[in-house]
Parts: sequence; C-alpha cells; structure tokens
Amino acid sequence: MIVLTLESSCDETAAAVVENGRTMRSNIVASQVDLHARFGGVVPEVASRQHLEAITMVIDAALDQAGLKLDEIEGIGVTAGPGLIGALLVGISVGQAIAYARQIPLVGLHHIEGHILAPLLEREIAFPYLALAVSGGHTHLYRVDGVGLYTTLGQTRDDAAGEAFDKVAKLVGLGYPGGAKIDQLASQGDPELITFPRPMLHRGLDFSFSGIKTAVRNYVIAHPESTQPENLPDLAAGFQAAVVEVLTKKTFQAATENGLQRIVVCGGVACNRGLRLAMQEQGVKKGVEVIFPSPLLCGDNAAMLAVAADYYLCNQISSRQIRARASWPLDLVSRG
Ligand code: KG4
Ligand code: ZN
Repeated sequence: MIVLTLESSCDETAAAVVENGRTMRSNIVASQVDLHARFGGVVPEVASRQHLEAITMVIDAALDQAGLKLDEIEGIGVTAGPGLIGALLVGISVGQAIAYARQIPLVGLHHIEGHILAPLLEREIAFPYLALAVSGGHTHLYRVDGVGLYTTLGQTRDDAAGEAFDKVAKLVGLGYPGGAKIDQLASQGDPELITFPRPMLHRGLDFSFSGIKTAVRNYVIAHPESTQPENLPDLAAGFQAAVVEVLTKKTFQAATENGLQRIVVCGGVACNRGLRLAMQEQGVKKGVEVIFPSPLLCGDNAAMLAVAADYYLCNQISSRQIRARASWPLDLVSRG
C-alpha cells in the first residue's frame, strides 16, 4: 500500500509518502521554528496559520520527490494528537478532504506512536522493545509489544527533557529552541566542573526536570560570570550531564525490570550527542541493543507515522471520524 502521511501537531508542517509501511519514498518537513523564535516559544495561532500556508506545498513536494501523482496514493494517515488543536485541524482537514475526494481510507494517528515506531523505517526490530520518547513535549518510557500495543512505564511529572533544554537555553541567552545549541556547547565543556542535581534518580521510573532547570537558574544568579562565552560550555556540559544521567539510568532500569533486550530512543532530544554516547556505552556494558533513528526521523516528521498508518489501514482499523486531541495517553490507542 502507498500511504501519504501528514503531520501538523506543533511547529513542523510535514508530509511523506511511504510504501508498505517501510520504504520511504519521500519525507518533507517545513519547519516554522524561525517564525516562533522571536516569541521565545510556539505561538499556537501563528502555528495554525503557517500550517495552512505550507501544507499543500509540502504535500506537492512529497509527491514530487516520490515520483507519484495524488491519484496513486492508496491511503492517508494523519496526526490526530496530542498537539495544538488548531494546528492538528489543518492536517486532519486536508487529510479528510483528500480521502473524501479520492475515496481512499484515512486513519488518525498518535504523534508519539510515530516517534516510537520511526526506527522501523530504517531496520527491522523484533517486538517487544523499550522506547524512551524524549522531546519538547514528552519524556516517557513505553513497553512496545507491537503496533498499537503500548504500556506506559514511566513519565515526567513536570517538564519534558526537551522543555528543560529549551528553558535553560533561553535563560542563558541562546534563544529558542536551544536544545541543539546546548548540545553543541556541551561538547566543548567539562561536565564535571559544575554539578547539578539528578532529581528522582533512585525513585521509580518517573522523571522530574523542573528542579534541574531551577538549579541552573539559581547557579546563574549566584555566578553571573558562568554565562560568559568562555564559561558557557562548562555550564551547558554540567546541565546536559545531569539530564543525560537521569534519562540513561531510568531507561536501563526500565529495560532490566521488564526483561527487555532492545531500547529505542526517539524524539527531538534523541539527536543529543551526549545522550547517544551515554546510552550506547551503557548498552555495550549491559548487553542491551540501543537503537537511535537517524536525525531526520528523530525530530517531528511525517514518515514516522507511516509504520502505524500502513498497519491500521491494511487491517482496516481506520475511520474518517477523526477527533483532534490536545492530550491522548498512548496506552489508550490500543488498536493492535
Ligand atoms: O520531537 P521534536 O522535534 O518535537 C516535539 O514533539 O517536541 O523535539 C523538539 C525538542 C526541542 O525541545 C529541542 O530543543 C530538542 O527536541 N532537541 C534537542 C536537540 N535537538 C533537538 N535537545 C537536546 N539536544 C539536541 N541535539
Ligand atoms: Zn514530536
């Protein structure tokens, strides 16, 4: 089956064409990030308007790159949540319009389901596996038993890890979104010079990141020189080391407790080089396979939705009645 997938849950307008849920024919992402940067975060109304302007061009580009015409598409998958309602409605409306006009099936998908199945576009992975979904909106540990079969094992009680990266970046004047900039600076700094707390390190599988962010704020107030260009790499490295240690320890604890031999790390923060290194090192030590999607499949994109879209469409688990959802626990997807 040749499926067109659409993603517009936050600040990326994306479309992809994927064959049989595995072969990526195209994956186009138009980022709005520069548009929101001057506001220091995503402005929902601005995001919706920009999705509306970009979406048809992005779909045309995805079809072009795939070398296909719209009438060769056999099914549609679109992000239905979680996300900004106005932004989601753009992708959903366009998906419904195409499905209606072409009389092809349509399925509404969970954004995080896309992230945790994304690596299957690059290689086969046997179920079950553990997924750490770590992005601007999520820091969740899931047991993945198959497409549509997800169990939450742990989650953040306050900020997502990406949110903490972005807030710290803003605090030290790096602008928004700052995760990649912190990563870049951290690679030049000493992670042991400034030590930040590791919240809830020895308490269950839930996370808390707002405390690390507050500790950085307090440190910066007490040591204003720490944000000078020559000192910033050490501050970034100290902060990143704290986040990475918590993420790595809890992920491996979850894998051990659940007898899982494979770990998928996905979402925008999975691009972080410190996290990749720490996870790979632990993986070798513990004999657990650690899988990271390539960077284009870590951040928000539409191809990542196609694994689940193909499965649901082929098994006729689809519906034109799609409800945009601001929040949507992944466990409730259960369509396997
Ligand atoms: O998955 P994603 O593109 O969008 C969401 O669903 O949130 O993730 C975006 C998040 C942002 O918080 C961004 O700062 C963070 O991922 N991020 C990074 C890196 N690249 C992106 N955080 C740390 N290190 C990076 N290299
Ligand atoms: Zn995402």
